[in-house]
Amino acid sequence: APLSQEEQKRVAAYRAVDLVQSGMVLGLGTGSTAVHALDRIADFLRRGILHDIVGIPTSKQTESIARALKIPLSDLDAHPVIDLSIDGADEVDPFLNLVKGRGGSLLREKMIEGASKKFVVIVDESKMVERLGGSGLAVPVEIIPFGWSYTLSKLKALFDLEHGFNAKLRTKVQDDGKEAPFITDNGNYIIDLYFENGIERDLGMISDSILRIVGVAEHGMFLGMATSVIVASKEGEVTVIN
Ligand code: A5P
Repeated sequence: APLSQEEQKRVAAYRAVDLVQSGMVLGLGTGSTAVHALDRIADFLRRGILHDIVGIPTSKQTESIARALKIPLSDLDAHPVIDLSIDGADEVDPFLNLVKGRGGSLLREKMIEGASKKFVVIVDESKMVERLGGSGLAVPVEIIPFGWSYTLSKLKALFDLEHGFNAKLRTKVQDDGKEAPFITDNGNYIIDLYFENGIERDLGMISDSILRIVGVAEHGMFLGMATSVIVASKEGEVTVIN
């Protein structure tokens, strides 16, 4: 039978954990794919296959999962050089550029994965796209809450001429049923950018223009950061793209 998407995520994650060696400082990714890597690392630690691992979590969510799994943890301040980071992605293009942050953890992910000697991305085949933003999913931008609608208008102005472009403040329905802005681990807001046909302009230039807007903390395009991408298919095949 073909592998479900969840099984594909697990297959890719387990393959990545084969790259982990005892003594490593590991960047621990966030999301439903990265969780499979956490499970596997914890299992290897319990069985003594791995020892002396230090995990640097990319979100509060990952921190609490890893803590429950008894993976020893530290932070970027104590470990400014990380041996290997393993994380999922929302989209991967043919040049291994990524969109991340659907779960909202892009800023910590980018800091930790940018500090890593190796950054291995784990995905099921549905994440592969021809062009970033091309899957109809958002390209997230983390912004400070102060003046958020001003920052939103600046972001909109950047893509004014783009066909089918849209930008929206990410919201979340609270326990009381009311809608409120989604808040990141850093206390910030997220603006989601939508492109009908993906980002057609030069990604490096788009990245620079977004980061130049005062009020923007970071965006979810990870350009030239992944050292390899492990893709699992429905057929159970694993492809490693370097
Ligand atoms: C978290 O903010 C994201 O960057 C995740 O790494 C990304 O959304 C992938 O998540 P899944 O593995 O759940 O698809």
